[in-house]
Amino acid sequence: MHESVLLKESIDYLNLNSKSIVVDCTLGYAGHSSNILKKIKEGFLYAFDQDKEAIIKADERLKKINTNYEIINKNFVNLKEEIKKRTDKVDGILFDLGVSSPQLDEDYRGFSFHKDAPLDMRMNKDQKLSAYEVVNNYSKEDLTKILKTYGEEKYANAIAEGIAKSREKKKIETTLELVEIIKANVPEKYKRDKHPARKTFQAIRIEVNDELNVFKKALKDALDLIDVNGRICVITFHSLEDKICKQIFNEVSNVPKELQSLPILPEKYKPKYKVIAHIKPTKEEIEKNNRSRSATLRVIERRI
Ligand SMILES: C[S@@+](CC[C@H](N)C(=O)[O-])C[C@H]1O[C@@H](n2cnc3c(N)ncnc32)[C@H](O)[C@@H]1O
Repeated sequence: MHESVLLKESIDYLNLNSKSIVVDCTLGYAGHSSNILKKIKEGFLYAFDQDKEAIIKADERLKKINTNYEIINKNFVNLKEEIKKRTDKVDGILFDLGVSSPQLDEDYRGFSFHKDAPLDMRMNKDQKLSAYEVVNNYSKEDLTKILKTYGEEKYANAIAEGIAKSREKKKIETTLELVEIIKANVPEKYKRDKHPARKTFQAIRIEVNDELNVFKKALKDALDLIDVNGRICVITFHSLEDKICKQIFNEVSNVPKELQSLPILPEKYKPKYKVIAHIKPTKEEIEKNNRSRSATLRVIERRI
């Protein structure tokens, strides 16, 4: 089962009332959504997920609480377009990014470097691009670039070189074949600390699901959709996502540098948004749920 991360904190920061209209962009197994639904007895919840298996489970859970929700089986890159068809503004938006524990645990999804599975990593199984395509058909140069930018992998060159050599002999079919190639191409000391395939797998997953571009677009759309006094909560799991969130929140909440010295700021330059919080899980949560160790929650509120 999926253990929700920063659950209480994110729900509290959404600052909901019984009539709130809320969007959960990452329904997953409805850990957050079920808590939201309990709080909005006369409101409405729209919940996105691109994973049909998660949706079936989430729906079973939500319908026991209430029926004032709609699950939208789409990528949240379509957030604005889909919500605008239904309503104009919303009071709360949540992103709990990444993959869920069941997605990681299900052997056949290919997200985990601990389990043997076909190279897949698609969150949406109707999509064409999979990890197999990236690993076997991307040029060595493109692979290196992806491992560097999406994995911050310092052995990107060596790993890409190893992949390119290995696939000349035979296509790379499974996650554990890929793990072996990674292990064979990084120094011994690199294998001692954390798993040597961790960053490569993160990079390929981001590429397969176009995660950073999708998130950037959706977060900007969320800022447009949120009503005055409404809040957006974002839970990220690695520094690349967090950097995007921090940068976008700063852009919309800061007074431009050249105007900071003005004694009175003209109304039209007042930022529309205010950053409310930036927090990490408590020690207790990390002890209970190791997956939360890299999580960060950022919260922004629309002021005008
Ligand atoms: C970390 S889980 C969410 C867990 C959920 N908050 C809970 O407590 O049960 C992330 C979920 O978001 C979904 N997801 C990730 N990126 C998505 C995207 N771009 N569009 C739609 N769903 C996405 C994944 O399929 C996964 O089910």
